[in-house]
Amino acid sequence: MAAIAQAQPNIALIKYWGKRDTKLNLPATGSLSITLAALWTRTRVEFDESLRHDELRLNGSQDPAARARTSACLDLLRRLAGTTTRARIDSCNNFPTAAGLASSASGFAALVVAADAELGLALDRRTLSALARHGSGSAARSLFGGFVSMAADHRADREDAVAEPLLDAAEWPLAVVVAVTSHTRKSVGSGAGMERSRHTSPFYPAWVSGAAADLTAACAAVQTRDFAALTAVSEHNCLKMHAVMQSSQPPLLYWSGTTLDCLQCLRALREREGVEVFFTSDAGAQVKAVCLPGAVTRVAAALADIPGVEQVLISGLGEGAQLVNDGEAI
Ligand code: PMV
Repeated sequence: MAAIAQAQPNIALIKYWGKRDTKLNLPATGSLSITLAALWTRTRVEFDESLRHDELRLNGSQDPAARARTSACLDLLRRLAGTTTRARIDSCNNFPTAAGLASSASGFAALVVAADAELGLALDRRTLSALARHGSGSAARSLFGGFVSMAADHRADREDAVAEPLLDAAEWPLAVVVAVTSHTRKSVGSGAGMERSRHTSPFYPAWVSGAAADLTAACAAVQTRDFAALTAVSEHNCLKMHAVMQSSQPPLLYWSGTTLDCLQCLRALREREGVEVFFTSDAGAQVKAVCLPGAVTRVAAALADIPGVEQVLISGLGEGAQLVNDGEAI
């Protein structure tokens, strides 16, 4: 018996960067994301009494480096099921892995959904979201589709550090054009990068104290479908996060020259031609252009023309993590 789940990565418009508690992986800042449709991770989980430790294959190869994090997340589900049986996990992505395209978000969301089914736990979405958060903070959001918010925890029992659906994908069908400027893995992962920023960036306290206002403004812009307001708060929030990264010690500079060319191009499209698009970028050199569906062709063509852009991916907004049929290839 095995269970297979599929999850889509999500792109944060209001960013989570920094932890309040590293052990429970609690975010210091709330976040707002959109779940994509066209990019996915599929993960097959099979528990097997004969295994001495969990086995993880990522995109067809053994991945001992990612195994510890995966096992730690699975341990939480095993504890709930009252078992210590190890698992064989086979996971693959249809997009570049660990390169700033949120593969850990879709990866842990798919993992908890498949493991939950395989262990017969039937946990609710909020609980699955909290479990995925232990693997990767952003993974908590990929349990849901469309627009998803996640508050920084304030309650003493920490139970509010889970994601919540805000608006369905169909209710405001935005599109995302991703400019892939590098297929290489990032040199500093987001977990280590956040800790570096928390301990060393002089801007970190201001970043954390401004996060709640950005989240409120962005949620209001989504509820009222106000693209101009969402543009303003999202780009500002993204640039503030990169200012925190860049002011860390040693500095975290995830962007390349091509990244910056993409950002300038998108601003020019908006300011000079009135194209409804804004940029965002995470812990990697890729650029995500969020736009209204009518702007996709123009935005994709402009990004594809920039020297150094290796690939352009186009996606609408999609659903949260779900089980898939055994027959579907992984
Ligand atoms: O969930 P993590 O540990 O992969 O961190 C995500 C960090 C950002 O992608 C930069 C921001 C976010 O909220 O997704």
